[in-house]
Amino acid sequence: MTTRRKKIYEGKAKILYEGPEPGTLIQYFKDDATAFNAQKKAVLEGKGVINNRISEYIMTRLNSIGVQNHFIRRLNLREQLIKEVEIIPLEVVCRNVAAGSLSQRFGLPEGQPLPRSIIEFYYKDDKLGDPLVSEEHITAFNWASTQEIDDMLAMTLRVNDFLTGLFGAVGITLVDFKIEYGRVWENDYARVLLADEISPDSCRLWDSATNEKLDKDRFRRDLGGVIESYTEVARRLGIMKEMPRVIEGGAA
Ligand code: TMP
Ligand code: ASP
Repeated sequence: MTTRRKKIYEGKAKILYEGPEPGTLIQYFKDDATAFNAQKKAVLEGKGVINNRISEYIMTRLNSIGVQNHFIRRLNLREQLIKEVEIIPLEVVCRNVAAGSLSQRFGLPEGQPLPRSIIEFYYKDDKLGDPLVSEEHITAFNWASTQEIDDMLAMTLRVNDFLTGLFGAVGITLVDFKIEYGRVWENDYARVLLADEISPDSCRLWDSATNEKLDKDRFRRDLGGVIESYTEVARRLGIMKEMPRVIEGGAA
């Protein structure tokens, strides 16, 4: 079914196909997992189905509070219809608790709460290993304008506040997350929209009571139980009812 459509772009975890009408695309969630710039690879059966559903749920909720994003509707187990955007080549990371590369860079113990939420920008380029960049780099190299940087900062803080509450209510600590933005052109005016996905692949989610990891660090650090943890996140969000047989439910 997906094979006859024109492929626009294939990334590590998703494929974009031409959409049914101009200005739309179909985003297909693969089961492929990569880490450390694709040096580590695996196929985790059912991951794409869970991430499609979790990302649908989060993007829909964000839209309802006015955080404009690319999501239009879910089409089937692995695909969603999205607005076509021009991706801004930045990974925007927001952190509430020290972990991962921040802990390494500054020698902070993982799990130490940060004095305030910290937003970082990384230049999206696998060949360079997605380097950390400053606003000076972003404007000098024309990756985004100062207005777009301001819009991304404001939207990211809203996403953080909302997701902190959403996950907090179901006993999950939002340690950090990565999001991406795109622009849509309306005549000569470009508007910034949240794009890509929000799922356990792109967030650090810890059980609030035990600090057990419920996210992609289980794969990065060989902790096992990756799909079980992603499924647990979906279950706590109350969205498992429509996907009872995720793991067998391979095809779209
Ligand atoms: P980091 O601590 O490795 O910089 O990761 C920060 C957050 O960004 C964490 O939630 C994982 C997420 N992330 C991605 O989604 N993709 C990536 O390529 C990287 C490096 C991190
Ligand atoms: N997504 C990145 C990669 O494939 C890294 C990561 O998420 O850890 O390599």
